[in-house]
Amino acid sequence: MKLKRHVFVCTHERPPENPKGCCKHKDAEQLVSLFKKEIAKKGIVSEVRAQKAGCLDICEFGPSVVVYPEGVWYGHVTAADVTEIVESHLIGGNPIERLKIPGK
Ligand code: FES
Repeated sequence: MKLKRHVFVCTHERPPENPKGCCKHKDAEQLVSLFKKEIAKKGIVSEVRAQKAGCLDICEFGPSVVVYPEGVWYGHVTAADVTEIVESHLIGGNPIERLKIPGK
């Protein structure tokens, strides 16, 4: 299967006392489900895949998401952003500027 785009959502977990924090405690698991649902709803499961990833090393911007093949990094992604990312970027090929992590 040749995917057009691949979405990785960090769901890494750290103990609550860890100062770095983690995406898992910022509802990242919910984002993975929402991406999967939206991709299914749009009928693009053969072209686009969303899945969990380990720490993407940009924890301060979590929940963190990266989309390949472009290598576009998104930070502070919320449930409200998922449909827009799917429609504009994953289907339309237009990354969402306001969600991009500066300097990535
Ligand atoms: S814990 Fe998500 S980027 Fe590090």
